[in-house]
Amino acid sequence: MRQPFFSALTFLFAIYCSPTYADLSLTLNEEEMAKANAMYQQYCSLCHGKDRAGYKADNAPSLKSHSMLSTAYPQLLFDSIAWGRVNSAMDGYSRDMGGPFSDSDIILLIRWLAQKESITPVELTQTSISGDALKGKALYASNCASCHGDKGQGVTAPAIADQLFLSSATDSYIKHAIVNGRDDTPMQSFKNQLEDDEINDLVAYLRSQASGWKKKPIELAQWPSADEYVLNPKGQDPTFNLREGRYVPAHEVVRALEDKKKFIVLDTRPGSAWQRIHIPGAVPMPYYRDKSKIADNLPNDGTWIVAYCACPHAASDSVINHLRSLGYKNTAVIDEGILKWIEMGLPVIAGKDKVVGLEDKDG
Ligand code: HEC
Ligand code: HEC
Repeated sequence: MRQPFFSALTFLFAIYCSPTYADLSLTLNEEEMAKANAMYQQYCSLCHGKDRAGYKADNAPSLKSHSMLSTAYPQLLFDSIAWGRVNSAMDGYSRDMGGPFSDSDIILLIRWLAQKESITPVELTQTSISGDALKGKALYASNCASCHGDKGQGVTAPAIADQLFLSSATDSYIKHAIVNGRDDTPMQSFKNQLEDDEINDLVAYLRSQASGWKKKPIELAQWPSADEYVLNPKGQDPTFNLREGRYVPAHEVVRALEDKKKFIVLDTRPGSAWQRIHIPGAVPMPYYRDKSKIADNLPNDGTWIVAYCACPHAASDSVINHLRSLGYKNTAVIDEGILKWIEMGLPVIAGKDKVVGLEDKDG
């Protein structure tokens, strides 16, 4: 049973994915397990928690629920990590997107996640499910919107109308999640709450939110060089009023940018997120960077340093905490984070200097 099933999975995966015929068996040895664990702790535990149970920051979901792992392994897990999810704290980690991982790094991580929980992958059909999207919309509003948001944009639960999610998740994957829930998380099973037809209607409604978004590697911009870190080096110092001695309101940062004050802005998300969209002049300083390198090229002379992430605080707090431990005096975290910043209509750019509208279509 097991062997043919795995080859079918491998085959499907190989069609979608460039690393041809990747080994997807759940037979990592001790050394590989240790390497994957170290990667996970450095890159993922910030939000998904050391124990993979989720909800450490930003309502990041569980990465150990069997219902998720057994249906998401391998393709959806790979895609979620490689490409991330639009407009959420989950950014893409693949090199194609400007992130740190090769395809084989990602494959090592997903094999580790699956092997840790000894899952048996569930084979789901690729056929689409038909249902009444209009009925599904009403069912969604009364049963799902409280956690997933009125438009599926995610609130305390993942964004299930997300274009990246919908481009990877099959109808049967979505249905399986609704029928079975996600063990040990707030996502209950709706098996006894809703009829089979109603669940199909919900799937049809969620599917109707997909825009036909396609995965596509982006053109990567060069990271700024050290002599570009300080904005307006001849300008005056800004005045920031910090909440709890740490958080600076977005509008004060915008004013400092407009008034050409001297300061540094750090983007603490993965490099892929900086490539996609960032605050003008921001320097990429991913939270997972080796701690001994964070301070390289950052002047410790009282120049203001403000950091932000999507979160709004987890990644930026970790970088600012480190700078403070090294004695950096004027440091702060942008209170709202960049997702709110974008919603507020404040200025952003993509790549090195490409000005973009607020709808970032290239993901
Ligand atoms: C800054 C916080 C943050 C970090 C760091 C982070 N994630 Fe996530 N992750 C999230 C959030 C939030 C979501 C849910 C996104 C949404 O709304 O759809 C998510 C979703 C996911 C999913 C989809 C799970 C599902 O149920 O569909 C996977 C898989 C995942 N993350 C893996 C990882 C891995 C592996 C890493 C490390 C390489 C990582 N994440 C790092 C916040 C984070
Ligand atoms: C009480 C809050 C809550 C309600 C109500 C709720 N969900 Fe969820 N849902 C969640 C959470 C939290 C998760 C992520 C669980 C995890 O893996 O950590 C989730 C996960 C999911 C997923 C899997 C997403 C992925 O990335 O794999 C789907 C699909 C989903 N929910 C659909 C629905 C639908 C449809 C409804 C309504 C019938 C619904 N949910 C109602 C909280 C909720």
